[in-house]
Amino acid sequence: MLTIRIGNLTFASPVLTASGTFGYGDEVSDLVNVDLLGGIVTKSVTLHPREGNPPPRISETPFGMLNSIGLANVGVEKFCKEKLPKFKKMDTHVFVNIAGYAIGDYVETLERIEVEDSTISGYEINVSCPNVKKGGMQFGVDPKLTEQLTRALRDKTDKILILKLSPNVTKIEDIAQAAVAGGADMISAINTVVGMGIDIATRRPSLNTVFGGLSGPAIKPIALANIHKIYKSVSVPIIGIGGISSAKDAIEFMLAGADLVQVGTSNFINPAIGINIISELKSYCEKENIKSLHDIKGKLEYQ
Ligand code: DHB
Repeated sequence: MLTIRIGNLTFASPVLTASGTFGYGDEVSDLVNVDLLGGIVTKSVTLHPREGNPPPRISETPFGMLNSIGLANVGVEKFCKEKLPKFKKMDTHVFVNIAGYAIGDYVETLERIEVEDSTISGYEINVSCPNVKKGGMQFGVDPKLTEQLTRALRDKTDKILILKLSPNVTKIEDIAQAAVAGGADMISAINTVVGMGIDIATRRPSLNTVFGGLSGPAIKPIALANIHKIYKSVSVPIIGIGGISSAKDAIEFMLAGADLVQVGTSNFINPAIGINIISELKSYCEKENIKSLHDIKGKLEYQ
Protein backbone atom coordinates (compact mmCIF):
# COMPACT_ATOMS: atom_id res chain seq x y z
CA MET A 1 0.00 0.00 0.00
CA LEU A 2 2.84 2.37 0.86
CA THR A 3 5.20 0.87 -1.70
CA ILE A 4 6.22 3.30 -4.42
CA ARG A 5 7.89 2.10 -7.59
CA ILE A 6 10.06 4.55 -9.49
CA GLY A 7 11.91 3.20 -12.51
CA ASN A 8 13.50 0.00 -11.24
CA LEU A 9 13.63 1.16 -7.62
CA THR A 10 11.05 0.05 -5.09
CA PHE A 11 10.58 2.29 -2.06
CA ALA A 12 9.11 0.53 0.99
CA SER A 13 7.41 3.80 1.83
CA PRO A 14 7.35 7.30 0.34
CA VAL A 15 9.07 8.92 3.36
CA LEU A 16 12.81 9.66 3.27
CA THR A 17 14.96 11.73 5.59
CA ALA A 18 16.34 15.02 4.27
CA SER A 19 20.00 15.90 3.87
CA GLY A 20 21.71 17.44 6.88
CA THR A 21 19.02 16.37 9.34
CA PHE A 22 19.85 12.69 9.81
CA GLY A 23 23.66 12.52 9.60
CA TYR A 24 24.69 9.42 7.67
CA GLY A 25 21.94 7.26 9.16
CA ASP A 26 24.35 5.36 11.44
CA GLU A 27 24.29 8.00 14.23
CA VAL A 28 20.62 7.30 14.98
CA SER A 29 20.42 3.60 14.14
CA ASP A 30 20.21 2.70 17.87
CA LEU A 31 17.11 4.88 18.20
CA VAL A 32 15.39 4.39 14.89
CA ASN A 33 14.96 1.39 12.58
CA VAL A 34 16.15 3.10 9.41
CA ASP A 35 15.07 0.10 7.33
CA LEU A 36 11.44 1.21 7.77
CA LEU A 37 12.18 4.44 5.91
CA GLY A 38 11.81 4.86 2.17
CA GLY A 39 15.39 6.09 2.19
CA ILE A 40 18.05 8.33 3.65
CA VAL A 41 19.74 11.31 2.05
CA THR A 42 23.18 11.97 3.56
CA LYS A 43 24.57 15.28 4.76
CA SER A 44 26.27 17.02 1.80
CA VAL A 45 29.67 15.61 0.91
CA THR A 46 32.28 17.82 -0.76
CA LEU A 47 35.59 17.02 -2.47
CA HIS A 48 37.63 18.27 0.50
CA PRO A 49 36.85 18.20 4.25
CA ARG A 50 35.25 21.38 5.60
CA GLU A 51 34.96 22.85 9.09
CA GLY A 52 31.92 24.87 8.08
CA ASN A 53 30.97 28.35 9.31
CA PRO A 54 31.77 29.68 12.81
CA PRO A 55 28.97 29.56 15.42
CA PRO A 56 26.25 30.50 15.95
CA ARG A 57 25.19 28.55 12.90
CA ILE A 58 21.76 27.34 14.02
CA SER A 59 18.98 29.48 15.44
CA GLU A 60 15.34 28.79 16.26
CA THR A 61 12.55 30.89 14.74
CA PRO A 62 8.77 30.73 15.17
CA PHE A 63 7.75 27.46 13.49
CA GLY A 64 11.18 26.93 12.02
CA MET A 65 14.91 27.13 12.18
CA LEU A 66 17.67 29.09 10.52
CA ASN A 67 20.94 27.40 9.67
CA SER A 68 24.23 28.37 8.19
CA ILE A 69 26.35 25.28 8.65
CA GLY A 70 28.56 26.06 5.66
CA LEU A 71 28.86 22.49 4.38
CA ALA A 72 30.78 21.08 7.36
CA ASN A 73 31.66 17.51 6.37
CA VAL A 74 34.49 14.98 6.39
CA GLY A 75 35.24 15.21 2.65
CA VAL A 76 34.77 12.49 0.05
CA GLU A 77 37.90 10.47 0.89
CA LYS A 78 36.97 9.89 4.52
CA PHE A 79 33.33 9.52 3.52
CA CYS A 80 34.24 6.60 1.23
CA LYS A 81 36.37 4.93 3.92
CA GLU A 82 34.20 5.46 6.99
CA LYS A 83 30.62 6.09 5.95
CA LEU A 84 29.99 4.29 2.67
CA PRO A 85 30.67 0.75 4.03
CA LYS A 86 28.07 1.26 6.78
CA PHE A 87 25.28 1.62 4.21
CA LYS A 88 25.76 -2.07 3.31
CA LYS A 89 24.05 -3.00 6.57
CA MET A 90 21.03 -0.82 5.84
CA ASP A 91 18.07 -2.20 3.95
CA THR A 92 16.87 1.14 2.64
CA HIS A 93 17.76 3.43 -0.25
CA VAL A 94 20.70 5.71 0.43
CA PHE A 95 21.25 8.79 -1.69
CA VAL A 96 24.50 10.69 -1.25
CA ASN A 97 24.05 14.46 -1.32
CA ILE A 98 26.93 16.12 -3.18
CA ALA A 99 27.84 19.82 -3.06
CA GLY A 100 30.64 21.74 -4.76
CA TYR A 101 31.95 25.07 -6.04
CA ALA A 102 32.56 24.23 -9.65
CA ILE A 103 31.36 21.53 -12.04
CA GLY A 104 34.74 19.79 -11.68
CA ASP A 105 34.30 19.48 -7.87
CA TYR A 106 30.93 17.78 -8.20
CA VAL A 107 32.21 15.45 -10.94
CA GLU A 108 35.36 14.48 -9.01
CA THR A 109 33.36 13.83 -5.85
CA LEU A 110 30.85 11.63 -7.68
CA GLU A 111 33.60 9.77 -9.56
CA ARG A 112 35.41 9.05 -6.29
CA ILE A 113 32.26 7.44 -4.89
CA GLU A 114 31.49 5.59 -8.14
CA VAL A 115 34.75 3.59 -8.00
CA GLU A 116 33.75 2.13 -4.62
CA ASP A 117 31.75 -1.07 -4.48
CA SER A 118 28.79 0.48 -2.65
CA THR A 119 25.10 -0.22 -2.13
CA ILE A 120 23.91 3.36 -2.65
CA SER A 121 20.95 3.97 -4.95
CA GLY A 122 22.11 7.30 -6.26
CA TYR A 123 22.94 10.91 -5.66
CA GLU A 124 21.09 14.05 -4.67
CA ILE A 125 22.93 16.98 -6.25
CA ASN A 126 22.83 20.10 -4.16
CA VAL A 127 22.61 23.12 -6.43
CA SER A 128 20.94 25.13 -3.72
CA CYS A 129 23.13 25.67 -0.64
CA PRO A 130 22.62 29.28 0.45
CA ASN A 131 25.44 29.30 3.00
CA VAL A 132 28.71 29.41 1.12
CA LYS A 133 30.20 32.35 -0.75
CA LYS A 134 31.08 30.43 -3.89
CA GLY A 135 29.17 27.74 -5.85
CA GLY A 136 26.15 26.04 -4.30
CA MET A 137 23.25 28.27 -5.09
CA GLN A 138 25.07 29.83 -8.04
CA PHE A 139 24.17 26.71 -10.06
CA GLY A 140 20.63 26.51 -8.82
CA VAL A 141 19.69 30.00 -9.97
CA ASP A 142 21.02 29.54 -13.51
CA PRO A 143 19.27 27.12 -15.89
CA LYS A 144 22.29 26.84 -18.22
CA LEU A 145 24.68 25.97 -15.38
CA THR A 146 22.15 23.55 -13.92
CA GLU A 147 21.85 21.74 -17.25
CA GLN A 148 25.62 21.68 -17.77
CA LEU A 149 26.28 20.34 -14.29
CA THR A 150 23.55 17.70 -14.58
CA ARG A 151 24.85 16.51 -17.94
CA ALA A 152 28.44 16.31 -16.65
CA LEU A 153 27.28 14.09 -13.78
CA ARG A 154 24.87 12.07 -15.96
CA ASP A 155 27.85 11.07 -18.11
CA LYS A 156 29.55 9.56 -15.05
CA THR A 157 26.83 7.48 -13.41
CA ASP A 158 24.01 5.09 -14.16
CA LYS A 159 22.68 5.46 -10.64
CA ILE A 160 19.68 7.67 -9.83
CA LEU A 161 20.47 11.37 -10.20
CA ILE A 162 18.27 13.72 -8.17
CA LEU A 163 18.68 17.50 -8.50
CA LYS A 164 17.76 19.41 -5.33
CA LEU A 165 16.42 22.84 -6.20
CA SER A 166 16.37 26.16 -4.40
CA PRO A 167 13.23 28.23 -3.84
CA ASN A 168 15.39 31.39 -3.95
CA VAL A 169 14.85 31.85 -7.68
CA THR A 170 12.51 33.79 -9.95
CA LYS A 171 11.17 30.79 -11.87
CA ILE A 172 11.81 27.33 -10.44
CA GLU A 173 10.14 25.71 -13.49
CA ASP A 174 13.07 26.87 -15.68
CA ILE A 175 15.60 25.26 -13.35
CA ALA A 176 13.59 22.02 -13.14
CA GLN A 177 13.34 21.81 -16.94
CA ALA A 178 17.08 22.47 -17.27
CA ALA A 179 17.85 19.65 -14.82
CA VAL A 180 15.63 17.25 -16.77
CA ALA A 181 17.21 18.35 -20.07
CA GLY A 182 20.60 17.53 -18.56
CA GLY A 183 19.43 14.02 -17.65
CA ALA A 184 18.15 14.23 -14.07
CA ASP A 185 16.01 11.24 -13.05
CA MET A 186 14.16 13.11 -10.32
CA ILE A 187 13.78 16.56 -8.80
CA SER A 188 13.75 17.25 -5.07
CA ALA A 189 12.55 20.58 -3.69
CA ILE A 190 12.75 22.77 -1.79
CA ASN A 191 15.98 23.63 -0.07
CA THR A 192 15.93 26.35 2.58
CA VAL A 193 14.58 29.86 2.05
CA VAL A 194 17.08 32.69 2.62
CA GLY A 195 16.33 34.37 5.93
CA MET A 196 17.81 36.18 8.93
CA GLY A 197 17.11 36.65 12.62
CA ILE A 198 18.02 39.52 14.97
CA ASP A 199 18.66 39.58 18.73
CA ILE A 200 17.47 43.05 19.82
CA ALA A 201 19.40 42.89 23.13
CA THR A 202 22.77 42.56 21.38
CA ARG A 203 21.60 44.03 18.06
CA ARG A 204 23.43 41.17 16.42
CA PRO A 205 22.14 38.80 13.76
CA SER A 206 21.22 35.39 15.17
CA LEU A 207 23.66 33.69 12.79
CA ASN A 208 27.35 34.45 12.44
CA THR A 209 26.98 34.69 8.66
CA VAL A 210 24.04 37.15 9.02
CA PHE A 211 21.97 35.34 6.37
CA GLY A 212 21.06 31.68 6.51
CA GLY A 213 18.51 29.14 5.36
CA LEU A 214 15.03 28.94 6.90
CA SER A 215 13.46 25.48 7.23
CA GLY A 216 10.61 23.81 9.12
CA PRO A 217 6.81 24.24 9.11
CA ALA A 218 7.21 28.00 8.42
CA ILE A 219 8.23 27.23 4.82
CA LYS A 220 5.60 24.56 4.01
CA PRO A 221 3.32 26.83 1.92
CA ILE A 222 6.33 28.05 -0.08
CA ALA A 223 7.39 24.44 -0.65
CA LEU A 224 3.89 23.36 -1.75
CA ALA A 225 3.71 26.20 -4.28
CA ASN A 226 7.10 25.27 -5.71
CA ILE A 227 6.28 21.55 -5.89
CA HIS A 228 3.07 22.29 -7.76
CA LYS A 229 4.90 24.56 -10.22
CA ILE A 230 7.51 21.85 -10.84
CA TYR A 231 4.78 19.22 -11.24
CA LYS A 232 3.13 21.36 -13.92
CA SER A 233 6.38 21.74 -15.87
CA VAL A 234 8.24 18.40 -15.83
CA SER A 235 7.21 14.75 -15.90
CA VAL A 236 10.02 13.17 -13.86
CA PRO A 237 9.24 11.98 -10.31
CA ILE A 238 9.34 14.69 -7.63
CA ILE A 239 10.42 14.55 -4.00
CA GLY A 240 8.63 17.13 -1.84
CA ILE A 241 10.54 18.75 1.02
CA GLY A 242 9.69 21.64 3.33
CA GLY A 243 8.21 21.57 6.81
CA ILE A 244 6.72 18.08 6.70
CA SER A 245 5.96 16.69 10.17
CA SER A 246 2.77 14.64 9.75
CA ALA A 247 1.01 12.32 7.30
CA LYS A 248 -1.37 15.19 6.52
CA ASP A 249 1.59 17.31 5.42
CA ALA A 250 2.93 14.43 3.28
CA ILE A 251 -0.48 13.97 1.60
CA GLU A 252 -0.63 17.70 0.81
CA PHE A 253 2.71 17.40 -1.02
CA MET A 254 1.48 14.35 -2.95
CA LEU A 255 -1.71 16.17 -3.99
CA ALA A 256 0.50 19.04 -5.18
CA GLY A 257 2.49 16.58 -7.32
CA ALA A 258 5.12 14.82 -5.20
CA ASP A 259 5.82 11.07 -5.55
CA LEU A 260 7.97 10.91 -2.43
CA VAL A 261 8.67 13.24 0.49
CA GLN A 262 11.62 14.03 2.73
CA VAL A 263 11.33 14.93 6.39
CA GLY A 264 13.96 17.40 7.55
CA THR A 265 13.79 19.86 10.43
CA SER A 266 11.28 17.72 12.37
CA ASN A 267 14.00 15.07 12.79
CA PHE A 268 15.69 17.45 15.26
CA ILE A 269 12.60 17.25 17.48
CA ASN A 270 12.08 13.52 17.02
CA PRO A 271 14.41 11.38 14.88
CA ALA A 272 11.64 8.76 14.64
CA ILE A 273 9.21 11.25 13.07
CA GLY A 274 9.65 9.69 9.61
CA ILE A 275 8.66 6.28 10.99
CA ASN A 276 5.64 7.83 12.77
CA ILE A 277 4.54 9.49 9.53
CA ILE A 278 4.80 6.13 7.74
CA SER A 279 2.43 4.45 10.19
CA GLU A 280 0.06 7.45 10.04
CA LEU A 281 0.08 7.18 6.23
CA LYS A 282 -0.81 3.50 6.45
CA SER A 283 -3.83 4.27 8.66
CA TYR A 284 -4.84 7.09 6.30
CA CYS A 285 -4.74 4.78 3.27
CA GLU A 286 -6.77 2.12 5.10
CA LYS A 287 -9.36 4.65 6.25
CA GLU A 288 -9.68 6.34 2.85
CA ASN A 289 -9.44 3.05 0.93
CA ILE A 290 -6.41 4.23 -1.05
CA LYS A 291 -4.69 1.26 -2.73
CA SER A 292 -1.54 3.13 -3.68
CA LEU A 293 -0.31 6.61 -2.84
CA HIS A 294 0.65 6.88 -6.53
CA ASP A 295 -3.08 7.37 -7.12
CA ILE A 296 -3.18 10.73 -5.35
CA LYS A 297 -0.13 12.29 -7.04
CA GLY A 298 -1.12 15.69 -8.44
CA LYS A 299 -4.81 15.10 -7.67
CA LEU A 300 -5.30 18.65 -6.48
CA GLU A 301 -8.73 19.80 -7.65
CA TYR A 302 -9.30 23.22 -9.17
CA GLN A 303 -10.38 24.69 -12.51
C1 DHB B 1 24.06 23.67 3.95
C2 DHB B 1 22.80 24.23 3.93
C3 DHB B 1 21.93 23.90 2.93
O1 DHB B 1 20.67 24.39 2.86
C4 DHB B 1 22.34 23.01 1.94
O2 DHB B 1 21.50 22.70 0.97
C5 DHB B 1 23.59 22.44 1.98
C6 DHB B 1 24.45 22.77 2.97
C7 DHB B 1 25.02 24.05 4.97
O3 DHB B 1 25.00 25.19 5.41
O4 DHB B 1 25.86 23.19 5.32
